Amino acid sequence: MKKRILVTGGTGYIGSHTVVELQNSGYEVIIVDNLSNSRVEVVDSIEQITGIRPAFEKVDCLDYEGMDAVFTKYPGIQGVIHFAASKAVGESVEKPLMYYRNNLVSLINLLELMPKHNVSGIIFSSSCTVYGQPDVLPVTESAPIKTAESPYGNTKQVNEEIICDTIASGSPIRAILLRYFNPIGAHPSALIGELPNGVPQNLIPYLTQTAMGIREKLSVFGDDYDTPDGSCIRDYIYVVDLAKAHVIAMNRILEGKQKEKVEVFNVGTGRGLSVLELIHTFEESTGVKLNYQIVGRRQGDIVKVWADPTFANNELGWKAEATIEDTLRSAWNWQVHLREIGVQ
Ligand code: UFG
Repeated sequence: MKKRILVTGGTGYIGSHTVVELQNSGYEVIIVDNLSNSRVEVVDSIEQITGIRPAFEKVDCLDYEGMDAVFTKYPGIQGVIHFAASKAVGESVEKPLMYYRNNLVSLINLLELMPKHNVSGIIFSSSCTVYGQPDVLPVTESAPIKTAESPYGNTKQVNEEIICDTIASGSPIRAILLRYFNPIGAHPSALIGELPNGVPQNLIPYLTQTAMGIREKLSVFGDDYDTPDGSCIRDYIYVVDLAKAHVIAMNRILEGKQKEKVEVFNVGTGRGLSVLELIHTFEESTGVKLNYQIVGRRQGDIVKVWADPTFANNELGWKAEATIEDTLRSAWNWQVHLREIGVQ
């Protein structure tokens, strides 16, 4: 019998790609999503890609009774992958209580419900934001946690602590915290991808929308940083590679291969790329010219961060595989698909 996994936020960007990889690996998936930042049509797209329709429940993770009912409706769920969260840095500064409620209470509900329904494993979506501006690069999992720059970033830190404290208190839960670097790109089918609400805040959706002519110009936030070309450096990880890390992490939990009850892995490529390098690589690999201009720095930006993925490579047995060229082409193909279906 297939092992059942509950995926919260499963119609979202990283969630949907992970559902595809889970189903391709033989898992049965139940998606829970309140559709606050995603479309229900994503379930159709997942079915189109994999040939399997995941179960879908429109429930908010803040709704304890609603979540309880999902665990009861689908008995035998073995693991949870918890993506559902609010994730816009700027919005979190304006609406901190909304962010703390959404992101903290959702996790607390899950951690209370899991033992009740004999579910032992959880994978939590964390972020390299917990490292702030690291003193040493590339950054390893043992780098110090820095004071969060935003309520959003703080929810990632506090949620990591909530999981650790809960397990330390004797809860029979096992956890893997995946610290994502910058996820980008879309499934090779171009049937699922990132669909930001309104004006994108992140680089890649802004870039592909500009290339499509939806936005006039991409602003590059600063070229006077202490980096080789002056623009900020990030570790851009292909979303399908990131999705595969979740499958491997879930196998590890369910097969009892963990060395600690809570394990933390960096999920990045180990390669730092500047904003300007990324733009030029996009132009070269897609043949599409991009209108951009250098503007002032964006407040609160980290100057440079990229992962040391050695621990994930050796211990988890996961490695980022996609080239940046293929990844950027996939992001562009997704933008073209959105135009074709009249969404953007
Ligand atoms: N950038 C631009 N122009 C834009 C948008 C972004 O130049 O229009 C630059 C930024 O200054 C930064 C880089 O592109 O140097 C990447 O910016 P993103 O907003 O795409 O990503 P961030 O690294 O700032 O943020 C991401 C996630 C956050 C997370 C953070 C740290 O979006 O959720 O990483 O982990 F908190």
